[in-house]
Amino acid sequence: MDYSQAKKLLSEHGQTQLLDYYAELSEGERADLICQIASLDFGLLDGIGNTGTRKIGKLSPVQTLGVAEVEKNRAAYYAAGIDALNKGLVAAVLLAGGQGTRLGSDKPKGMFDIGVTRELSIFAQQFENIKQVTANLKTPFDVFVMTSDINDADTRLFFKEKHYFGYPEEKIHFFTQDMSPTCSFDGKIYLEEKGKIFLSPNGNGGWYSSLMGSPAGKAVREGDIKWLNVYSVDNVLQRICDPVFIGATLINGTDCSSKVVKKANAAERVGVLCIEDGKPAIVEYYEMPEDLASATGADGELIFGYGVTLNYLFKVDKLDAILENRLPVHLSKKVIPHIINGEKVHPDEPNGYKLEILVLDMIKLMDSCLAVEVVREREFAPVKNRTGVDSVDTARELLRKNGIII
Ligand code: UTP
Repeated sequence: MDYSQAKKLLSEHGQTQLLDYYAELSEGERADLICQIASLDFGLLDGIGNTGTRKIGKLSPVQTLGVAEVEKNRAAYYAAGIDALNKGLVAAVLLAGGQGTRLGSDKPKGMFDIGVTRELSIFAQQFENIKQVTANLKTPFDVFVMTSDINDADTRLFFKEKHYFGYPEEKIHFFTQDMSPTCSFDGKIYLEEKGKIFLSPNGNGGWYSSLMGSPAGKAVREGDIKWLNVYSVDNVLQRICDPVFIGATLINGTDCSSKVVKKANAAERVGVLCIEDGKPAIVEYYEMPEDLASATGADGELIFGYGVTLNYLFKVDKLDAILENRLPVHLSKKVIPHIINGEKVHPDEPNGYKLEILVLDMIKLMDSCLAVEVVREREFAPVKNRTGVDSVDTARELLRKNGIII
């Protein structure tokens, strides 16, 4: 693409402001900017201006294996899960491309030291959890680590310095997620510098296309892996490639599954796995009609009572089938420093959107999904904030309760 082609493309999309400072740039900067313009996905901006919450379809509860049911079948599920892991049919995908803004650290969230009397990064604790599973396997499973352009170098260096947390290095594969532009509330893409578009990680929903488009994806494209266990970096009690979870999914024959926890109360801010218009779907807490959020069954329990924990198991051939589909774009309001009238401005209030696609929307594209309940205090300790709800404090407390020295 050359300057005139870039200008034409930008005029078609009402974004010519990106070339406002072109004349001031060096040759190299010009080439970089044209390259960034060529790779912009303008379709991501289609939903700007449409900020209302989506219309919710007819909801009913999803097939859920409660803790008691899981316990009853534990031996069979465990054996099926171990068998699949030993055959190399399952691998893990760590979503670590987020920016952890609420935690307020400028390093990757997984590097955060959750220890008190000793150093214990979130990454290290998650690998401890993984090694409890692999201790019972013939060979360790592959772990694909998704980073973003922003935290890739720091993440790789940390893994190296920490000797891959005692996990075989050749079983850990990094890949970076795609980036998306940020824009003003009226959809104008921002410049971070005169010759640089303000890009940010495109959300955790792009993991499969980013993985398959990367060299790391070769192991999935050409190998034996048939299932991917996708999990977030911020749950320090996360059980990864849990044989019981895998076995339950295989035996129940669904396309995907999700670890869920009983909601703490009807108003808890957590997405709920449901059936929506006959298909599995995750309904966000702010989308759920109030009467349904608090509705109880004959047993007195919440009917829509299970929250997702960002630990999903997906069948690879189903993911291939949905690769073509565009996931909905979520607009998240952010403070975005940018160039205007030739100067860098640092707004105090949110001034635009970050555009994200989310893994939870992939569930809707599956034909069936099993919810598998896990004991909240044992498996769910999210680290979102410094203090308060879902924080460093609550996660430390839960680690202690589980007998982990921190
Ligand atoms: P969150 O939605 O909690 O976002 O991520 P975050 O970026 O970590 O934190 P905040 O919102 O800025 O405070 C849930 C999971 O999805 C991953 C995160 O790393 C975390 O494991 N994620 C999020 C990505 O991998 N990429 C993204 O673009 C966003």
